[in-house]
Amino acid sequence: MTSYFVTASGTGVGKTHVTARLTRELMARGKTVKVVKPLITGFTWHGLKHTDTGILLHHLGLDPTPENVKAISPWRFDEPVSPDMAARHEGRDIDFDEVIAFSRDAMDGPEDVALIEGVGGVMVPMDDTHTVADWIAALDIPTIVVVGTYLGTLSHTLTTIEAMRGRGLAIEAVVVSESEDSPVPLEETAETIERFLPDMDVRRLERAKYDSSQPDILADIALAAG
Ligand SMILES: Nc1ncnc2c1ncn2[C@@H]1O[C@H](COP(=O)(O)OP(=O)(O)O)[C@@H](O)[C@H]1O
Ligand SMILES: [Mg+2]
Repeated sequence: MTSYFVTASGTGVGKTHVTARLTRELMARGKTVKVVKPLITGFTWHGLKHTDTGILLHHLGLDPTPENVKAISPWRFDEPVSPDMAARHEGRDIDFDEVIAFSRDAMDGPEDVALIEGVGGVMVPMDDTHTVADWIAALDIPTIVVVGTYLGTLSHTLTTIEAMRGRGLAIEAVVVSESEDSPVPLEETAETIERFLPDMDVRRLERAKYDSSQPDILADIALAAG
């Protein structure tokens, strides 16, 4: 099995969109895909359809049953804040080792590809001492880094990549997912990122629905590894 961790330069830039799209592209090529979103904040059962968990189940072709929800997102919190804060406010603890064990199980399954969607940006705290970067490091898993095209993304992107490289985290590709009402063109943003990160595989993902006519642009990231 090939496994990837989908992280980002920040929250709301497109991790779920990219994870869902990559899942669809792989499934369309006959690959089996396991997707987990272990930690989710801003989760409500009544709004399930619009949560990351609900969206990912939909694209996997799985029903939004409580069993399926719990299977891909064991750590769910109501408040739409960082996981460490949400847990503290609810008087709960996120056991880092349990998150690692759950993620490893997902990576060890029978599917062709496993995708783990992180939470927030790569340096967001998961508890009092660990960030998402520690989660990735513990799994020793290659990442797909999602960034936007909003004004300010260049600094966020380069900071993210530098922090990740400083930690020795493996980056398979950067996906530039076009932000809503972006004043900066997608292509120019991607070209600028390429200029500063010459060895990076930079993908362009226009602002579009999943069923748009845009050709597959992500599947080969996961297929190249076999
Ligand atoms: N390339 C894109 N095309 C269309 N919508 C997108 C794209 N990238 C992100 N979005 C939308 O932007 C919002 C935030 O993206 P999301 O994937 O939920 O971010 P994250 O998972 O990083 O928090 C969602 O409504 C998502 O559907
Ligand atoms: Mg998400």
